[in-house]
Amino acid sequence: MSGLFITLEGPEGAGKTTNREYLADQLRQAGIDVVLTREPGGTPLAERIRELLLAPSDEAMHADTELLLVFAARAQHLAEVIRPALARGAVVLCDRFTDATYAYQGGGRGLSQPRIAQLEQFVQGELRPDLTLVFDLPVEIGLARAVARGRLDRFEQEGRGFFDAVRTTYLQRAAAEPQRYRLVDAAQSLEQVQHQLDGLFPELLERCSRG
Ligand code: TMP
Repeated sequence: MSGLFITLEGPEGAGKTTNREYLADQLRQAGIDVVLTREPGGTPLAERIRELLLAPSDEAMHADTELLLVFAARAQHLAEVIRPALARGAVVLCDRFTDATYAYQGGGRGLSQPRIAQLEQFVQGELRPDLTLVFDLPVEIGLARAVARGRLDRFEQEGRGFFDAVRTTYLQRAAAEPQRYRLVDAAQSLEQVQHQLDGLFPELLERCSRG
């Protein structure tokens, strides 16, 4: 038996946290076994790596260190949570995954995409998300929402150019593989975004039943 692996992606302030709960509730109401999780994190050890990644620090983190920490957390998360859940036939709904690495470490930090692809293969083998929802919105709207939320983490403290590259990378990846990605216009109100998710729901259910 093999489940379905759905990832949610997008920049800061895109409303992923609220909408992942909404999607999980909808799927559960349809009787589906859903594992809701996130990256970096998803296990106690991986959450400790997340803290290292997000905490602002006087010692600048080298981009390669950041990349390796992201994949270290992912290796733990895959082994402890994602692979076992998929093996029992569950739907894994994961807030961020390797697309975020291409967007933030690749686009934002400028690390080479082939280097990221090597690590992706090493850590994941052939496992890739079945479906990825990209919550897209203009950079200035996302940053304003992040600022309004309060204290900024290490990534949120980056400048406009960093987030322009993050957004461009997400959009390029979505355009290159339209069968895997669905774009959600996250600049709209929460109600309108959830209306868009409702529109995707029949396809989600259909894919879940195909497993
Ligand atoms: P969030 O889960 O609250 O959106 O924050 C996680 C942060 O970690 C976000 O700024 C994006 C960043 N991140 C990466 O830089 N690379 C990754 O591979 C992942 C999963 C997240």
